[in-house]
Amino acid sequence: MMNDTSVVTRREFVRLFTVAATASMVGSRMSYSTMLAQISNSGLPSGFFHIRISDFPALQKNSGSVRLGINRVASNQPTGGNYPIIINRESAMVFHALDSECTHASCVVGAFVAGASVCPCHASRFGIDGRRLAGPAALPLKKLPITFDGADLLSLEIPNLGFTVTGSPVVSGAKSRLMLSFPSTLGAEHELMFRENLNLPWGSIRFATTLEGTADKTFIAGNDRVLKIYADRSAESGFYAVTVKVKPV
Ligand code: FES
Repeated sequence: MMNDTSVVTRREFVRLFTVAATASMVGSRMSYSTMLAQISNSGLPSGFFHIRISDFPALQKNSGSVRLGINRVASNQPTGGNYPIIINRESAMVFHALDSECTHASCVVGAFVAGASVCPCHASRFGIDGRRLAGPAALPLKKLPITFDGADLLSLEIPNLGFTVTGSPVVSGAKSRLMLSFPSTLGAEHELMFRENLNLPWGSIRFATTLEGTADKTFIAGNDRVLKIYADRSAESGFYAVTVKVKPV
């Protein structure tokens, strides 16, 4: 928990964010899910996805499929650095998460429709679990571990897809603020979440993009650079997390 900002060290911030990262992130919005920002100071971090089935009608029936991404797809390639993820529902309790990068020549494969995910470049076809069905691709799509809580929540952890957030207390006039810094991705939308304790749900909070600016922003667009945002401290203690929106692409 966050105490007096004047004595919060970098190490403590890392621990705080680690706590936030491992907690359930279920504050998705209609038609969106969010990936909780990473939270580690060593190695390449993982991205944690928490997806509500109730937000995606396609996943509410067997053989349904959705392709989710951080950045858009154009000319059969991702417009940013991340390939979308294909989520397929095989049956009531069986889901598959697949990397959409075609194993032939790296075009983005489509969602599972009418019995196959089809690559738009050379027509390789893949099954609901990613297996190769036909075409020049020699290998199946890469599978990603996914779990289902049996009710509404899917959880995925994707190695190397997270990002590191660092934080430090700053003073803006009479206000005590928290500066958060993180690498962004072109085409991504970032949101700042807060909760006062682990028993409360995450909620979006507003932030400023300059030290002295008004904290009136709810989203900031990624640009492949390190971004800095500033949040007013409204509580004595709490947890902060930076998320990136994942949307159908
Ligand atoms: S890139 Fe997918 S079939 Fe060639």
